Amino acid sequence: MGIRMKFRESLSKLDSEGLLTRIQKPVSAKYEISALLKKHEGKPVLFENVMGVAVPVAGNLLSSMDLLCESLGIRKEEWIERLNLAIRNPGPITEGRGEFVSFEPDLDLVPILTHYPNDQGPYITSGVVFAQRGKLRNMSFHRLSRIGKDRFVGRLVEKRDLHTMYLDAQEHGEDLGVSIALGNRSGVLVAGATSVERGVYELGIAAALENGVEVTHAKTNDTSYPTDTEIVLEGKILHDETTTEGPFVDLTNTYDVVRVQPVFVIDKIVMRRNAVYHALLPGGTEHRLLMGAPRTPTIYKALKEAGVDVTNVYLTEGGSGWLDAVVAIRKKSDADARIAIDAAIRGHRSLKRITIVDSDVDVTNPNDVSYAVTMYWEAGKEVVMKGVKGSSLDPMATPDGIGSKLGIDATKPLVVPAEKELKMKKAQLAFDV
Ligand SMILES: Cc1cc2nc3c(=O)[nH]c(=O)nc-3n(C[C@H](O)[C@H](O)[C@H](O)COP(=O)(O)O)c2cc1C
Repeated sequence: MGIRMKFRESLSKLDSEGLLTRIQKPVSAKYEISALLKKHEGKPVLFENVMGVAVPVAGNLLSSMDLLCESLGIRKEEWIERLNLAIRNPGPITEGRGEFVSFEPDLDLVPILTHYPNDQGPYITSGVVFAQRGKLRNMSFHRLSRIGKDRFVGRLVEKRDLHTMYLDAQEHGEDLGVSIALGNRSGVLVAGATSVERGVYELGIAAALENGVEVTHAKTNDTSYPTDTEIVLEGKILHDETTTEGPFVDLTNTYDVVRVQPVFVIDKIVMRRNAVYHALLPGGTEHRLLMGAPRTPTIYKALKEAGVDVTNVYLTEGGSGWLDAVVAIRKKSDADARIAIDAAIRGHRSLKRITIVDSDVDVTNPNDVSYAVTMYWEAGKEVVMKGVKGSSLDPMATPDGIGSKLGIDATKPLVVPAEKELKMKKAQLAFDV
């Protein structure tokens, strides 16, 4: 088991290993940092000198599966098993006291990036929102569009936990206290992106991945947040004020639509000394990984529950790490592929395309997958669905995500007819040189 690290310790470690690109020249939070993050995809970057703000910006920290797993001290092959284990067995959350400096709510203190032309404006994209309503606690990612010196409009996906808590507060004529945590440990980021049953507090998942998490009480509301968070914006979601949110470039690199969403007001800003701001490039690899990586274990679990001998699951880059899955199975019967397609959808409703391959196919290699499809698919070995629930990010679906799905069985038949045996036999060279 490796060593778990706070956000800033991860930065120091990457630096000491020569894996951190330090950019010392002054850079603008408007467009320039996002362009540089794109240019350095897959490589962590620290912007030491952001024009007009005293806080440096770090990005691309988890912009590959290797970086993500390394930061959690696990091997890539263990990812699915370890996240499922953490979901089943939450770790300990202890009360502590963070060493923070408090500031009045002036968002000019924080280097909030404007990422793309046509975006509504500056957006916080790495914010994990901690909320508390009665006994119910929740943490989840929400993009926040800055609309004033102390306010945002935030995107709350309907029927998800924070939205439900917000509606409940609204019904009672109350605001919902929140803390927006920026600059978190990897385990906290992964937990914030994981969807579990209502009532299960995601921070327990972070605590399992991080060997425990220490939290501190907010100064201005009921919430708590990890003591080692770099920057926290304490505030509330107003029950009686909404405004338009968007356009915003989402993980498909296309613009999400404009919607009316709730307004957040900030009451206090707290920062650790020498705080670093975490930038998350919308549509970049880090964004896609944080969205998609927590879904591979849920797909895996759904397949196991359906009795399929699943060996691997991968959300492809071409599918923006969200819409397109390749699932490798060890077939026990030719019916397994169809069962696997349905189970994968239960494990991740947003899937638009699902390809089932044999366990000897490298699911992460698009050429290998394409080879399996072109070799072993034939008419009738596909499932086409229309008018079903999918992803709101699918541009061909309705704004609520009602669209199409395609499942492809690219597995070899279990019983190969004698006349096809040679055509399906993979040739081997006599020896490797
Ligand atoms: C980088 C990133 C950005 C996200 N942005 C949003 C968002 O703006 N609004 C939203 O409702 N969910 C967003 N999500 C998804 C939620 O964090 C995720 O669905 C979470 O699991 C929902 O939690 P819940 O099960 O508590 O409802 C984002 C996820 C990631 C990884």
